[in-house]
Amino acid sequence: MSTSTGADFDLTSESFFANPFPTFERLRTQAPVYFFEPYQSFIITRGADIEVVTKNPRFSSQRATEMFAGMGLLGEDAASKEMLANWSRLTFFQDAPRHTLLRQLIMKGFTPAALERFRPRLAALVERALVKGRSQGEMDVVADFAEPIAINAIAELFALPEADRSRFVRWAKDLLKPAGAGVNTDDARNSLRQTSHEMFAYLRDIVEKRRAAPGDDLISQLIAGEDGNPQLAGEAVIQSFQMIGAGFVTSTNQLTNTVLALLKHPEALSALRADRGLVRGAIEESLRHEPAVLSINRLCKEDTELSGTLIPKGRFVYAMVASANRDPSMFPDPDRFDITRTSNRQMTFGVGAHYCPGASLVRLEVEEALRALLEFPRWEFVDRPYNYQGSNFQDRGPSSLHVRFPRS
Ligand code: HEM
Repeated sequence: MSTSTGADFDLTSESFFANPFPTFERLRTQAPVYFFEPYQSFIITRGADIEVVTKNPRFSSQRATEMFAGMGLLGEDAASKEMLANWSRLTFFQDAPRHTLLRQLIMKGFTPAALERFRPRLAALVERALVKGRSQGEMDVVADFAEPIAINAIAELFALPEADRSRFVRWAKDLLKPAGAGVNTDDARNSLRQTSHEMFAYLRDIVEKRRAAPGDDLISQLIAGEDGNPQLAGEAVIQSFQMIGAGFVTSTNQLTNTVLALLKHPEALSALRADRGLVRGAIEESLRHEPAVLSINRLCKEDTELSGTLIPKGRFVYAMVASANRDPSMFPDPDRFDITRTSNRQMTFGVGAHYCPGASLVRLEVEEALRALLEFPRWEFVDRPYNYQGSNFQDRGPSSLHVRFPRS
């Protein structure tokens, strides 16, 4: 049994984030359980090993303190203490049985019936986001289209005032700043602390107002679930924070990645135009082939062997779901973008108990977005380079993507 494996692999450059898949392929074949010195963490790239990591309780989600320590975010000052106290309560950072209780609370808002009721409002949001594309025949898919859809969808579900929404865009981006490679600076950490403080204060106020005047929205549902259960006291604020933080950048990237994948594969776009019945397949294939999230993260709580490599207690593991999605032992011809795949168990939304509660919402957003975009007879790249600055293991997508819609 070895303690670490492999030669050097670049996992932090912009070119890695632009196309991480050749590196993942090399890792899967040469060093599937790879100790990555710069992060002092293990990188897991084979689908079968990722299944193990997500199901073995030795790989724990309860890791907020250790994660903050690694990012230099622990401190005796009030802002650091407040942040750790709040973030430690997120569902992301819980194991059963606490995790199970919180899932019951949050999943009530994401039933298929609730999402189907939301569809017409979402379609209207998509229409609004297409104003520029329609009037100018050109738009930045990120800033003009995906971001407004993603933030307004969450804001409508939570009934957040229209005037506050741009603030949420800034907040959601600030929350991720120290997560990128080479950007964990004092400034990024300070803006994370400050944003976390402002967002919690804002949400505490909204929750109090909503408690007094409930409505037909997710915050009111969280309050109803919290009331009468002392174990859930304060969770409406915590869970609202988590969903706004988790749902905006991810959805923005997935909407953009889907458009980009179709632009890069015109044969798939033509097939989709000819047969709208392929929309669901196109969504699943974009999630598999161009996922907005590269990895999920766990803390190893006891020395554990994984595929012949020892993972010592106290080490983090990054389970690269984006690599599992291209693992040939899971998907035939995995690098081919094929919207007609009949079996597509992509891992983009995770595996097991922590499976993303927002998955159905994202699928609905992409479906409505494609439905509207397919009305344009042609899509073309505008000749402006796009880049992956700001991408990291959690969030991957271009920072802009200019597209033109010629009329004929
Ligand atoms: C394409 C978009 C998205 C992707 C790729 C994505 C991916 C993921 C993944 C991989 C996990 C599992 C994390 C783990 O196992 O530790 C997760 C969890 C989570 N996601 Fe998403 N997500 C997306 C959108 C959303 C949206 C729109 C929301 C909310 C509205 C959301 C809320 C959450 C929450 C609350 C969790 C924690 C669940 C738990 O720990 O049990 N996500 N997501």
